[in-house]
Amino acid sequence: SNRIMLGPLVAAIDQGTSSTRFLVFNAKTAELLSHHQVEIKQSFPKEGWVEEDPKEILQSVYECMDRTCEKLTQLNIDISNIKAVGVTNQRETTLVWDKETGEPLYNAIVWLDLRTQSTVERLINKTPGRNKNHLKHKTGLPISTYFSAVKLRWLMDNVEKVHEAVLSHRAMFGTVDSWLIWCLTGGKKGGVHCTDVTNASRTMLFNIHTMDWDPELCKYFDIPMEILPKVRSSSEIYGLMNISSNLKSGPLTGVPISGCLGDQSAALVGQMCFKDGQAKNTYGTGCFLLKNVGTKPVMSDHGLLTTVAYKLGRDKPACYALEGSVAIAGAVVRWLKDNLGIIQTSTELEKLAADVGTSYGCYFVPAFSGLYAPYWEPSARGIICGLTQFTNRSHLAFAALEAVCFQTREILDAMNQDSGIHLSQLQVDGGMTSNRLLMQLQADILCIPVVKPSMPETTALGAAMAAGAAEGVSVWSLNPEDLTEVTSEKFEPQINPEESELRYARWKKAVQRAMNWET
Ligand code: G3P
Repeated sequence: SNRIMLGPLVAAIDQGTSSTRFLVFNAKTAELLSHHQVEIKQSFPKEGWVEEDPKEILQSVYECMDRTCEKLTQLNIDISNIKAVGVTNQRETTLVWDKETGEPLYNAIVWLDLRTQSTVERLINKTPGRNKNHLKHKTGLPISTYFSAVKLRWLMDNVEKVHEAVLSHRAMFGTVDSWLIWCLTGGKKGGVHCTDVTNASRTMLFNIHTMDWDPELCKYFDIPMEILPKVRSSSEIYGLMNISSNLKSGPLTGVPISGCLGDQSAALVGQMCFKDGQAKNTYGTGCFLLKNVGTKPVMSDHGLLTTVAYKLGRDKPACYALEGSVAIAGAVVRWLKDNLGIIQTSTELEKLAADVGTSYGCYFVPAFSGLYAPYWEPSARGIICGLTQFTNRSHLAFAALEAVCFQTREILDAMNQDSGIHLSQLQVDGGMTSNRLLMQLQADILCIPVVKPSMPETTALGAAMAAGAAEGVSVWSLNPEDLTEVTSEKFEPQINPEESELRYARWKKAVQRAMNWET
């Protein structure tokens, strides 16, 4: 057959909270050649609990790899041109498995999960001055249900199998990146147990200054260091793919896995935010605004996290970011669909909201998992307020979209206050950015333009770039100037700033009502 000659290709596994994707890019042009996406089931066994099945996550990766390889073959593209694979993932989600059997010992506890709320409250009460920022000087993070350490503690305390495996030295802990890399490099037959600095920086066990696991933090959470993965940079060869030859993607065996970044870090790289002060906001299940602050960590006084942005090579410096994390963005759309049934598919939301073009004074604070930045209040709960007899599902849909925009405004304000420098526009990406109404609303509520790249898969692109640029692979330059021009679309603010401020002030009132709901 006539194979198309393309030069080196680089693939990325993007394992997000709601779905898994496998994507293949041309390493010379960054063009996306083919991809496949599979949705991931979430289970909610108790109120506030959110779990996913580690085996389903792994299977979804195999399925995406197989289907993408099939599509490439149909396009006459030889999959042996794939020179490297990068991994990017939902962060903080916590897994423990048995290294001898290869079996997960419990479901993955998803980052959004609230089961550790009482543990977190107890830990904070024990600190001098009841200070949730007690560990921030080392970790950049407040003590919260969000991060992995408390989830791992819960697993060790409450799951007999985990407890036993830890005692008999068979337990391995990891975030989703570690689980996937271990499985894909051979699993119980010699799989590599590692993570990268960006994922490690979300566990609360990692010291962002020494760039290593911190013995004191491990002692604080009483976690044995031997169950932790080895911490590596975000761009180096971790191991070679070693998967079943029965798979359509079987020929990928032997290809190096050489890029690994938490999804928000990967999006920062994929948006080419390599310079101090550059920022992006990604609208996924949650919504995460990260600003590159350079090679020295900057601590926030306004409720933002300090996190490792990337370290693109063993001998390269680490770059840090300030991050504003919003727990619920796309998840509110899924909730309107699955829990209220007011839409059948996510894409219907835009039309429903556009039908009215206003929330008619209805405000919806989707604090389903407490509130993250800038409040860090686990006891907050969702509220819908300002209802009248006139309110209908279209207004509610509009209020849900506005909620995503108001939450972004709050973290952008915090970022501006921290640095004293105001962003003049906001670079965005992620699934929800295909919603044009949302993009326009976002520009209106921020009063600055919103800029969206025409290739929306920036998270996967970042992971692929890191993989392709790794030492020993070197098929991809990370120099933004080398890329064919990145095209983008710009949404300019259209309403007057006074109206924007008025709506934002009402939102803030609604947030106050959602806070401390139980007390
Ligand atoms: O911190 C959680 C984040 O990494 C999840 O991202 O895209 O699945 O909402 P996403």
